[in-house]
Amino acid sequence: MNVLVTGAAGYIGSHACKRLLAGGHRVVALDDLSRGHRRALELLDAGESLCIAEGSVGDEPLVTSLLAEHAIDTVMHFAALAYVGESVEQPLRYYTNNVAQGLALLGACDASGVERFVFSSSCATYGDPPEGLVPVPETCPQHPTSPYGWTKLVYEHALLGWSHARALSSRPVAVALLRYFNVAGADSSGVLGEDHDPETHLVPVAIRATREGAAPLSLFGTDYPTHDGTCVRDYVHVEDLVDAHILTMTSIKRGKAVAYNLGVGRGHSVREVIAAVERATGRRVPVVEKRRRPGDAVALYADASKITRELGWKPRYTDIVETVASAARWFEANPRGYDG
Ligand SMILES: NC(=O)c1ccc[n+]([C@@H]2O[C@H](COP(=O)([O-])OP(=O)(O)OC[C@H]3O[C@@H](n4cnc5c(N)ncnc54)[C@H](O)[C@@H]3O)[C@@H](O)[C@H]2O)c1
Repeated sequence: MNVLVTGAAGYIGSHACKRLLAGGHRVVALDDLSRGHRRALELLDAGESLCIAEGSVGDEPLVTSLLAEHAIDTVMHFAALAYVGESVEQPLRYYTNNVAQGLALLGACDASGVERFVFSSSCATYGDPPEGLVPVPETCPQHPTSPYGWTKLVYEHALLGWSHARALSSRPVAVALLRYFNVAGADSSGVLGEDHDPETHLVPVAIRATREGAAPLSLFGTDYPTHDGTCVRDYVHVEDLVDAHILTMTSIKRGKAVAYNLGVGRGHSVREVIAAVERATGRRVPVVEKRRRPGDAVALYADASKITRELGWKPRYTDIVETVASAARWFEANPRGYDG
C-alpha cells in the first residue's frame, strides 16, 4: 500500500514507518517537527520507499499534492499535540492543532483517492470510566476530562460523520479509530526509541531518574484505593501497537468504521512500573511522594478483546519488565536521545 504517515517523526509514528517499510509498503512521512525528530526517520535508511516531507497536516495544498504525487491509498494519522496538562493550559492551541488542522487533512483526503484512514485516538476519550467498567470496553461512555481528550473525541466524530456520508456515496472509505492506552517500550532492533521534551510518560521518566545526578521521580498520589495506593494503567508495547495498525489497515472494509481499544488488558500500578524499571536497569529509582494530581483516574486499563476476537491481534509483550527493558536498552545506547 502507499501510506501517508502523519506525525511520522514522533515516537509512535516513527515505529509505524519502520514496520510499514519492513512490510514492503511505500511511506510518505509527514511531520512539522514541532515535537518530532527528523533523525528518527533518517535512521530508517529506507531509500526510495520513504519520502520525508516537512510540513503541517493543516497545510491542505501540501497534503493534496503529496496524496496525488504518491498515489496514497491509506492514511495513518498520528500527528497531534499530546500533553494532557498542556491542553488544560492551552485548550485552543489543542483544538487548532488536533481538530482544525486534522480537518484540513481530512478535506485533502476527501478530495483524493484515499480509501483507508487509521486514527490515533486515546483512552483519554473515556475520561474516568464509571465503576464496573474497568477493564474499559469500546462501548464505555466517552466523557473526556481534558481538552486533549476532547480533541480526540471530536475528531473521532468527524471521522464517523465522514465515513457515514461516504458510505452512502459511490466512494466509500474505511475508517479505524484506535484508542491507545499507555504506550511504552522501544523498537527491538535498537534503532528507534521514545524521546519527548518534556517527557511526561512514566516509563522513560523512571528510567531517566535512575541516572546519576538525575532528579527523582515524582510519584503523584499514594492513597488511591488500589492494592498499593498508586494509580493503575495499561502499558502496551509500541511494537504490538504498530502491529495492530498494520492488521487493521489490511482488514478494514470500505464503507465501515470500527473502533478498537489497544492495550494489554492488564493494569500495573505506578509502584509496579518503578519496580520493573529497577529490575530492568539494575538501578534504583529515587522517588519523591507527592499529593494526588487533579484529574488522574484511579485505574484505567483496556478490555482489548474486541480486536483479538475480530482481527486476531494479541500483544506479544505481556511482561512489563520486558517492555521496560526494551525502552531501557535504547536509553542506555542514546542517553541524550536522538540529539546526542
Ligand atoms: N504515547 C502514548 O502513550 C499515546 C497514548 C494515546 C494516544 N496517543 C496518540 O498517538 C499519537 C502519537 O503519539 P506520540 O507519543 O508518538 O507523540 P509524539 O509527540 O512523539 O508524536 C507526534 C508527532 O506529531 C507531530 N505533529 C504534531 N502536530 C502536527 C501537525 N499539525 N502537523 C504535522 N505534524 C504534527 C509532532 O512533531 C510529533 O512528531 C498522538 O496522536 C497521540 O495523541 C499516544
